[in-house]
Amino acid sequence: MFNTETGNDLLRAKAFLESSEIVAIPTETVYGLAANALDVSAVVKVFQAKNRPSFDPLIVHTDKLEKVRSFVQALPPQASVLAEAFWPGPLTLLLPKKEIVPDIVTSGLPNVAVRIPDHPLTLSLLSMLSFPLAAPSANPFGYVSPTKAGHVMDQLQGKIPYILDGGESTVGIESTIIGFSGTDVIVYRLGGMSVEAIEKLVGKVTITLQSSSNPQAPGMLISHYAPRKQVVVGKISELIQQYNSEEIGILSFRESYYGINAEHQMTLSATGDMEEAARHLFASLRKMDNLPIKVIITELVPDHGLGRAINDRLRRASGK
Ligand code: TXA
Ligand code: MG
Repeated sequence: MFNTETGNDLLRAKAFLESSEIVAIPTETVYGLAANALDVSAVVKVFQAKNRPSFDPLIVHTDKLEKVRSFVQALPPQASVLAEAFWPGPLTLLLPKKEIVPDIVTSGLPNVAVRIPDHPLTLSLLSMLSFPLAAPSANPFGYVSPTKAGHVMDQLQGKIPYILDGGESTVGIESTIIGFSGTDVIVYRLGGMSVEAIEKLVGKVTITLQSSSNPQAPGMLISHYAPRKQVVVGKISELIQQYNSEEIGILSFRESYYGINAEHQMTLSATGDMEEAARHLFASLRKMDNLPIKVIITELVPDHGLGRAINDRLRRASGK
């Protein structure tokens, strides 16, 4: 057990990481649970703290493209284009790993997932370290990802020594995961970088979202991102009729509804701003999960830009 501290002391975070301990770090997407990616004894602790099955590999974070080259064998041409354009940013690339990356990080797969996150505090921390950081989202396995230091504290208190507090995540949804096969660019997880933005640079992509355990992207299990409460996705005005109004909470895209306790309603973005909706999604699901209600009623948002990633998370939260 640890007496978990929260703060913005980079030297303290660095000292823990250098002694094979794990530290929660802020990123623009969600908070990560970080360990020295090249140290098996440190990476093991990440799996333990999260209760994460060992077949679900971790993303490796660093701050410079030169450093990426030290642990991947090569970047296909489209990977270079995307890295130059979008890093630091909410994009993860699957690249052939060098021997130096331990098998536990990739669950024995030949590719390693790599990302340069766009957060000033974490970029400073990474620049001070002589190793990259393996970091999954800092939530217990299967639960909604954290977008604030407080979310991490609520769930991992006592299990980790330090939470680096970098404020609220500005994107709010996990990175988009991209792989390469010959000349094909494949999206394995919809996320904070829109498919439209990626296609502008590399042309049409294939979207292969995984819905059950599989070797390419095991983290895409259907039950991922789920609150404890039942989540029902549909047309809110119709769903309201089917439940006792006392027992439901409403998470809508823009609208509020009459006849339902205002404290049991949240909107993702009253103005219909998709970036704002993404930023609020996970914090809203957490708040709803802690209300004295039985069912969270919600709806899909327009299916473009970050809306596609939001809809993916809402469907998974509902178990569909
Ligand atoms: O935005 C993000 O990506 C956040 C922040 C902390 O960077 N991280 C994150 O990590 O969402 P995590 O562990 O919750 O999701 C990573 C997923 C895995 O579940 C798996 O689907 C995929 O990335 N992945 C990681 N390494 C892989 C590999 N070598 N091959 C295929 N898929 C991989
Ligand atoms: Mg996760």
